[in-house]
Amino acid sequence: MISHSIFAIFLALISSAISETNDDILVFTVASEPTDGFQRYLSSAHHYHIAPTVLGFGQEWKGGSDIKNRPGGGWKINLLKTALEPHKDDPTKIILFTDGYDVIFTDTLDAILRKFKETKARVLFGAESSCWPDVQLAPKYPQVTEGKRFLNSGLYMGYAPDLWQVLTFDVIEDTDDDQLFFTKAYLDEDLRKKVGFKLDHKSEIFQNLNGAVSEVELFEVKAKEGPEEYKIQNVLYHTVPLILHGNGPSKLSLNYLGNYLANSWNSVEGCVRCKEGQFDLKNKRANEMSLVLLAIFVEFNTPFLEEMLSKVYSQEYPKHRIDLFIHNAMKFHSKHITDFIEKHGSEYRSVKDIKPDDGTTEWAARDLSLAQCLSKNCDIYFSVDSVAHLDNPHTLRLLIEQNRTVVAPLLPRPGKAWSNFWGDLTKEGFYARSNDYMDIVHNDKRGLWNVPFIANCYAINATLLKKFDETKLNFDRDNWDADMAFCANLRDLDVFMYVSNRVDFGHLVNPETFDITRVEPEMYQIFDNEQDWEARFIHPEYPENFNPEKTSLQPCPDVYWFPIVSPRFCTSLINMMENFGKWSDGSNKDPRLEGGYEAVPTRDIHMNQVGWEKHWLEFLRKYVRPLQEHVFLGYFHDPPRSLMNFVVRYKPDEQPSLRPHHDSSTYTINIALNQRGVDYEGGGCRFIRYNCSVVDTKLGWLLIHPGRLTHYHEGLKVTKGIRYIMIAFVDP
Ligand SMILES: *[C@@H]1O[C@H](CO)[C@@H](O)[C@H](O)[C@H]1NC(C)=O
Ligand SMILES: *[C@@H]1O[C@H](CO)[C@@H](O)[C@H](O)[C@H]1NC(C)=O
Ligand SMILES: *[C@@H]1O[C@H](CO)[C@@H](O)[C@H](O)[C@H]1NC(C)=O
Repeated sequence: MISHSIFAIFLALISSAISETNDDILVFTVASEPTDGFQRYLSSAHHYHIAPTVLGFGQEWKGGSDIKNRPGGGWKINLLKTALEPHKDDPTKIILFTDGYDVIFTDTLDAILRKFKETKARVLFGAESSCWPDVQLAPKYPQVTEGKRFLNSGLYMGYAPDLWQVLTFDVIEDTDDDQLFFTKAYLDEDLRKKVGFKLDHKSEIFQNLNGAVSEVELFEVKAKEGPEEYKIQNVLYHTVPLILHGNGPSKLSLNYLGNYLANSWNSVEGCVRCKEGQFDLKNKRANEMSLVLLAIFVEFNTPFLEEMLSKVYSQEYPKHRIDLFIHNAMKFHSKHITDFIEKHGSEYRSVKDIKPDDGTTEWAARDLSLAQCLSKNCDIYFSVDSVAHLDNPHTLRLLIEQNRTVVAPLLPRPGKAWSNFWGDLTKEGFYARSNDYMDIVHNDKRGLWNVPFIANCYAINATLLKKFDETKLNFDRDNWDADMAFCANLRDLDVFMYVSNRVDFGHLVNPETFDITRVEPEMYQIFDNEQDWEARFIHPEYPENFNPEKTSLQPCPDVYWFPIVSPRFCTSLINMMENFGKWSDGSNKDPRLEGGYEAVPTRDIHMNQVGWEKHWLEFLRKYVRPLQEHVFLGYFHDPPRSLMNFVVRYKPDEQPSLRPHHDSSTYTINIALNQRGVDYEGGGCRFIRYNCSVVDTKLGWLLIHPGRLTHYHEGLKVTKGIRYIMIAFVDP
């Protein structure tokens, strides 16, 4: 007898030791397919060394056809019953059940077990603030003084024999509602008392997010060594829940929190979770690369479309593995598209080009592109809108290697809060800003972020297109924008949309002020698309002007010479002027001036006559002023003032030269807009005091010299062709 009881104590010691090391806690979940949410669940489990037994995997879901909106889920109970049968009499076994698609572990089983034992419950369910699916049952619930009153069946645990009693207190059909079943068990006072059935009212372990989103916050657990770890706290009950369930409409919050929890991200290693599933295409042979359907959408007039197309072309990916699909709705851009296809189309595997005349709507075109992807047997669908500039030539490859169902490169408007993703949504489905939105847009945090809305550029693994046909996955929904419709459909299908800023991918142009009634409309974009304006119109060697290793060119005393604008700028400006065409008549009478009189008249057009005055002043401020300060030290004037800004035309049979004169300026700038020996003969500028001429002017280069006293000068005779220069008298 004695030895037997000693043995029993010994066993109990062992079993308590075992339970401390988790051997006696069994974790179950139900998931029929590996959705993005289920992968996240497994990742979080893995991080905390939890190995759930997955029930129903690979089977057809039997728990009701519309589990999101209608009751169902009885199947989960029946699956669990079968799995528990062998353990039902084992009082040492603790069973933890969690839903699979919308759950994240935020701590270890040890922590869960410790908390569970503190509750003194034999069976413990999570709680929530609403009574579902049968609100009539609400009054039957015991009152609670603090905490959530109603049962939620997404998260629960208990000792095997006690839980078994609950699971078997009645029979349940697969399509019956599991939460209703457990609610009835809980409301059965005898059963509740008998098995020690409690609810986790204050989220000591189980946090159901629905109705509690504002109670739940991330917090950082600082480690002594190594990176911080993110956990959640319930700020209403001052608890630190250990398992998080994004039930009902709280999935977006779950996705947001999931970007951080279970060490998905930390400030030291950055994006930890994004390395999961990622692969490397570097050593893959060109012929084995995934087939890509690259869809380009030009749905409105867009500045710098030529550059956008050339960046698409520059993507380092074998073009014979890319099928092109282009929808252009804008006649203005027909030439750009045609040029692109003529030049490069034949390098691609195929080209489908839908023109403005077809009258295809954006919605239809986008739907068509998905169909085109399938008909070309694509592996990857890659969509790029006209505003999306993929400055990084590896964008496509990096997105494919990231291996997510849907992933977008982060593309911000430079220097602005605007980008191609939303961090959160309003209830109505519109833009809302998440707490971390600015950190992500400004790259203060880099990573791979699960977000509710992406647009303008994204890659989709085509298995998704095969899984959901065009009735489910399309761009149409209640007259919404195509993007909003598409993302709403993806959300409904529980497909995660990721946006990556692991590296810089590119930027968005701003089309809002693009005015195609202008000649050379991009020239007017110096304010709204500075970066693109600069790339197209500023001389590539401009930054070298400030290289301290270099001395500035000085062709004549105190006359400096700098590369400043690109050849494209020069032709654009000439084109603007010639299109306007109202050159002054070269007489002294000039109604454009305040006094109506010009002592040294030229044939010219003023910037304000082509609506380009404020743009020009911005150009002076941003690009000319620093050069002036660089060579004429100690003179600061910000912004530079300039009333006289114009393009001059020298032409043998019109006005070939200009007599010696002073300028009414502190300094004058003079930009050569075309080339001697190519466009004209003769010409140049002679500084009389020094008997020094600059004749071999260079395209897009600027001469800068003092205006008065020392630099009396003349315009030398053009003998053939037409010479154009751009002049400004700065700080008169
Ligand atoms: C992509 O990730 C999935 C898991 O999500 C994995 O099964 C698959 O092998 C990965 N693809 C490649 C090419 O590595
Ligand atoms: C697409 O997804 C499937 C399933 O996760 C995966 O096996 C495959 O490797 C992915 N394809 C590409 C090209 O990433
Ligand atoms: C000015 O320079 C030119 C050539 O550089 C020379 O032929 C001419 O004699 C010079 N004139 C004076 C006044 O020095």
